[in-house]
Amino acid sequence: MSPTYSEYLRLEELLKLQTGVEGEKRRISNDELHFILVHQNFELWFKLVISELKCTRDILSSDYVEETKLPEAVHHMDRVIEIFKLMSQQWRVMETLEPQDFLNFRDELGTASGFESIQMREMESLMGAKWIDGKLVGKQENEKSLYDVTCDWLERTPIQGSTLNSENDENQVNEFIEDYLAAHKKIYPDTNQDAVNFLEENKALRRRRAGLVFIESYRELPLLAWPRKLISTLIELEQSMILWRTSHARMVERMIGRRIGTGGSSGVDYLDMTTKYRVFIDLWAVRSILIKKEALPAIKNKDFYEFRGE
Ligand code: HEM
Repeated sequence: MSPTYSEYLRLEELLKLQTGVEGEKRRISNDELHFILVHQNFELWFKLVISELKCTRDILSSDYVEETKLPEAVHHMDRVIEIFKLMSQQWRVMETLEPQDFLNFRDELGTASGFESIQMREMESLMGAKWIDGKLVGKQENEKSLYDVTCDWLERTPIQGSTLNSENDENQVNEFIEDYLAAHKKIYPDTNQDAVNFLEENKALRRRRAGLVFIESYRELPLLAWPRKLISTLIELEQSMILWRTSHARMVERMIGRRIGTGGSSGVDYLDMTTKYRVFIDLWAVRSILIKKEALPAIKNKDFYEFRGE
């Protein structure tokens, strides 16, 4: 038999949960009902975000990611980005609570705080955050993050047609790096050291970063179309999370000023600090060392990057 709308969504149970810990015993005000509902809304979105991030992570975690899988990975992240954009607006509903009216029930929270949101920590850990202010953030042992699998994937980028572990790959990669750094030096002699620092790292990092520079530089090559889309989506994903954190901090500043948080942190200062942290550090950093197309080293083995029919 087909379920009713309410049965399918389990609304009876869901709509009983906006009472605060004491259940029906304490009558909550309309303001507190609003406060609880907004939080629960966020937690429901978090649940979906976690599930989407896991899908992306799983797609990218295989040893060989087929080109046809990349649009799917991007699709899951696009959904997360839209959710974060929506959630950034959702603070406005919270802001209809007057600071003075919040004080009427703030004591009820005790030490409860978004700080303790398990789903928030799971999102961070899935993204790949490893610390915040020396405090964070248990990364689940043996669970790979989006950051981990992105690093592995970038390391396998074919560079000038040369694939990881193929014969002579190391020389080819070194040659590309030398050519790139020389080209960079020509137009940006003053900041060339930044590019040198970025690319002349230890061996594993070197190939990964060279792969990233390669994808960002030769964007017009057909085979790199989805990889570069994937990278810009990862950036947009992190950007949307940072903007969401920022708008939370501004809402909090408006609500409680410089008071300390119920979770015991310094409050707004702590929240602003979390907006400075980046998971995909290299994806942001590479932007400082890009060079314009006409100054790039010539592409080798161009055919390798054409679309190939069956
Ligand atoms: C009146 C509304 C709110 C105020 C005044 C407020 C205040 C704060 C403060 C001061 C912190 C820092 C930790 C602490 O010391 O407690 C914090 C953290 C947090 N809040 Fe809120 N918050 C509000 C609403 C919300 C809502 C609706 C959510 C949605 C779930 C939320 C999610 C979080 C999360 C996830 C953290 C942890 C951030 C991190 O550690 O990176 N907050 N909040």
